[in-house]
Amino acid sequence: MANVVVIGSQWGDEGKGKIVDWLSERADVVVRFQGGHNAGHTLVVEGVSYKLSLMPSGVVRQGKLSVIGNGVVFDPHAFVAEKKRLGEQGVAITPQTLRIADNAALILSLHRELDAIREGASTGTKIGTTGRGIGPAYEDKVGRRAIRVMDLADADGLPERIERLLAHHNPLRRGLGQPEIDAGAILDELTSVAGEVTPYVDRVWKLLDERRRAGDRILFEGAQGTMLDIDHGTYPFVTSSNTVAGQAAAGSGLGPQSIGFVLGITKAYTTRVGGGPFPTEQENEIGTFLGERGHEFGTVTGRKRRCGWFDAVLVRQAVAVNGVHGLALTKLDVLDGLDEIKICVGYRLNGEVIDSLPANGKAQLEVEPVYETLEGWKATTAGARRWSELPAQAVKYVRHIEELVGAPVTLLSTSPERDDTILVRDPFQD
Ligand code: GDP
Ligand code: IMO
Ligand code: MG
Repeated sequence: MANVVVIGSQWGDEGKGKIVDWLSERADVVVRFQGGHNAGHTLVVEGVSYKLSLMPSGVVRQGKLSVIGNGVVFDPHAFVAEKKRLGEQGVAITPQTLRIADNAALILSLHRELDAIREGASTGTKIGTTGRGIGPAYEDKVGRRAIRVMDLADADGLPERIERLLAHHNPLRRGLGQPEIDAGAILDELTSVAGEVTPYVDRVWKLLDERRRAGDRILFEGAQGTMLDIDHGTYPFVTSSNTVAGQAAAGSGLGPQSIGFVLGITKAYTTRVGGGPFPTEQENEIGTFLGERGHEFGTVTGRKRRCGWFDAVLVRQAVAVNGVHGLALTKLDVLDGLDEIKICVGYRLNGEVIDSLPANGKAQLEVEPVYETLEGWKATTAGARRWSELPAQAVKYVRHIEELVGAPVTLLSTSPERDDTILVRDPFQD
């Protein structure tokens, strides 16, 4: 029996939320290990849609323990707002069902502001962030000046920690022509919310170790995707955390031997939201078709997602850097009705064909996809719950993807609805 790590193998929004929700029936504990409320994970259960950003997708099921690990950057106000929103949908979140790592770093209003200031500046690289303060919060964590979740319970120690943080931020703000921040305002921001967070705080590494020893099944829920990883992605057009499977260990405090099965969530085509290279992007009627059929609008920001053909080169790279054991292929139904479907199988750069995305950002913009063209299918795959319901051409498409990326399809998703999912092989039993 293995624990399972779910990661995105493209640029995010692959359908991780749906798959985590589906798998969580088989799990006891669901753990977020990186990112923050920049994530937007949508689950649809019997027609009711749940949108989760900071909460692990396991909260929607009764009887599961959800955990926000130390690798997450935690915005306490976003937490309270999401808890309230979910409560209104009948999802109760209590200290019995959710625990938050004491050593996770906090996102404060000054991080959100800095994110917006940088994105709004006329100079520098506009990343197209979600504006949630993710990057600035991770900078403070790595800079060893972050205020952490545990500090919310330490009223006496907070003023000193705030001073230390502002000793960095106020000179930075002056340089940016922004007003300085008053320590009292940050203290109020934190003390006003502390009481709503502290009942959930725990030593998560210890809790997970106990659960592991007791034989519980642990499901790790990645956010974003491999091409947004701070090291392995299309830098600098990335998020500020490691999104790859290896981070599940560091971002939760469970050792790497506990990771088990790595499930790469993979959309049957490609999307990206925000700036940066996207070799197979289709700024034409194909892109419009995929965007409309796939409802490709961001969960967090409502932005239109850029759309393009499946890029087997990128996913093969993701299979390697994550150690993917199997794929969960999603949104196959979006391709229903196309006459032909293209798959990128290599790139052309300076007259040569290459089989991986170059690390250099300029070269990433210059590569030209080499496509194979497959016949489409007219019958529908939408809502299929058995392999035998799939048209032959759709099966051929799936088999070809497996071959090109070097990993088998473990799960296949054919609609947003929880149960429109085909299980090929149970990752927990692997
Ligand atoms: P995540 O960030 O990886 O969790 O993905 P998002 O939730 O941001 O985006 C995926 C979107 O596709 C959501 O609206 C899902 O409800 C939807 N979705 C997931 N799987 C399928 C599928 O197999 N078919 C279709 N048509 N939609 C899907
Ligand atoms: P889920 O978990 C898609 C993108 C942003 C931007 C870049 C940096 O739903 O798949 P950030 O706010 O993190 O500093 O933005 O990363 N981005 C995502 N794109 N899905 C996500 O999450 C994303 N989270 C961040 O659009 O390009
Ligand atoms: Mg999303």
